[in-house]
Amino acid sequence: MQDDFALLAEDVSSPFDGGRFAIGRRPVRVGAIDLGALDAETDSCLDMLVKLPGGDVRLPEAFRTKAVFSLFTLAAEAEKKLPGPGWRDHYLYLTVDQREVLPGRSHRNAGWHFDGMQGSRYFEKLTACRQYVVSSANPTEYATLPMNADGLTEDGHNWFVELGAQIDESIPGAVVKGAPGEVMLMSAYQLHRSPVSMAEHPYRRTFFRLDVSMKQQDRLGNSLNPDLPAPFEFQPRGLPEGLRYEISDSGWEGGRKFSKAVL
Ligand SMILES: [Fe+2]
Repeated sequence: MQDDFALLAEDVSSPFDGGRFAIGRRPVRVGAIDLGALDAETDSCLDMLVKLPGGDVRLPEAFRTKAVFSLFTLAAEAEKKLPGPGWRDHYLYLTVDQREVLPGRSHRNAGWHFDGMQGSRYFEKLTACRQYVVSSANPTEYATLPMNADGLTEDGHNWFVELGAQIDESIPGAVVKGAPGEVMLMSAYQLHRSPVSMAEHPYRRTFFRLDVSMKQQDRLGNSLNPDLPAPFEFQPRGLPEGLRYEISDSGWEGGRKFSKAVL
């Protein structure tokens, strides 16, 4: 398998290309966040815009926490090692999701998927997205084996289901995960899922994701940043075409959501 970081550097230096799912891959560990800080009580936010291309990071006060600063510090260090100007020309979107995970359920979506699909809305493909993710407990699972996206169309196929069905979990090493607190960097070609809880009792799990993207994440329901108004209109849009599927996460009863975009 090619060096994980070198592969990822290639991934994020070229436009989104389904052919790259054919390369086996693993996420790259970029450091760790203190678990006590990571699991401290916090508001949650979803894909909140925190930086514009060419701009500075603007975090609302609710998210100026030790753990969020650790995430940004580790990510900024990793960005320096990537080719080009790092995240300077990209949007940054922050997700903080803290909830009680119920027995037999996942915190976030349990199905195999990837972050950063560019559907038919993106006729000319943008540079592939990358994400820094970390969980306080039972971290994200990653699929490592090559997949075949040949013949998949943006409007006619559910890429998550089609690629997820190719993952043979009986093969040793086919699924890997980091440790709680470890910040992992992955590209848009990294299939992953939120694990289902095998615990007998509910437990709190805190998840952070920093999405480095050329895309305008303008889905209605994303959190609004009071310190950085989005220069685009939020749209009542579901998942990208061909990617709709049932959400079976733990629900929001145990969480506290930050401001949401409204029409
Ligand atoms: Fe994801």
